[in-house]
Amino acid sequence: MRQRLAAILSHVRGRTLADIGCDHGLIAVGALKQGRVDKVIATDISAGSLSKARALAAQEGAVDIDFRVGDGMSVLKDGEADVVVIAGMGGREIISIMSGARRGVEKYILSPHRNAKELREYLTSHGFKIDSDYIVKDGKHFYSVIICSEGVGGALTPRELYFGDNDRSDKVYAEYLRQERDKCLYVISKAGEEKTAKEQELLKLIEEEIALLC
Ligand SMILES: C[S@@+](CC[C@H](N)C(=O)[O-])C[C@H]1O[C@@H](n2cnc3c(N)ncnc32)[C@H](O)[C@@H]1O
Repeated sequence: MRQRLAAILSHVRGRTLADIGCDHGLIAVGALKQGRVDKVIATDISAGSLSKARALAAQEGAVDIDFRVGDGMSVLKDGEADVVVIAGMGGREIISIMSGARRGVEKYILSPHRNAKELREYLTSHGFKIDSDYIVKDGKHFYSVIICSEGVGGALTPRELYFGDNDRSDKVYAEYLRQERDKCLYVISKAGEEKTAKEQELLKLIEEEIALLC
């Protein structure tokens, strides 16, 4: 299984998982096959995507899955799921889905493929605390995996807002920072110093963080 999906699945543990935007159904089916939950509610805004998950479940003999077509958590009732996964979409889409969060969820496992900083800002200003937040590498790409729950956490530092809370001895994190540094340097070299205040600020943070790697 791909690294990103394996990392997400490793956090799933509970009675009922709601996999919002399940698409292929690998998380939904994997959670049942690994005995991580008793039941899954697999949802997707697209009926076509959900049919992929249905086909995988049938092929794998995963019977305890309730399939629902609909937008975000509108297809869930309060108390139906204690673990929720929202993965493989942009941070802004995840924010929109989290704004309809249901009661009774003990753990959210979120994995945005862009705009992770915006998502962190949203979570910490809307009654969620981030319990862990780290980078995984899958193929050539890096993804954030953010575990959060309802509650009040401390304000995030600029470093936590941009990068999450990674182990500074983790080689994947070091590789990610170097890639982000190269991206900033490229943008600054193309657009010039006057037009890249944001990138220069980020570059400074990245370089400070690189200097602290173990
Ligand atoms: C790229 S797939 C990700 C599949 C899987 N969660 C993963 O991480 O590999 C994104 C899926 O999210 C679904 N989606 C996008 N917005 C959604 C929403 N508001 N509610 C439910 N599903 C949504 C899309 O239809 C698509 O099937």
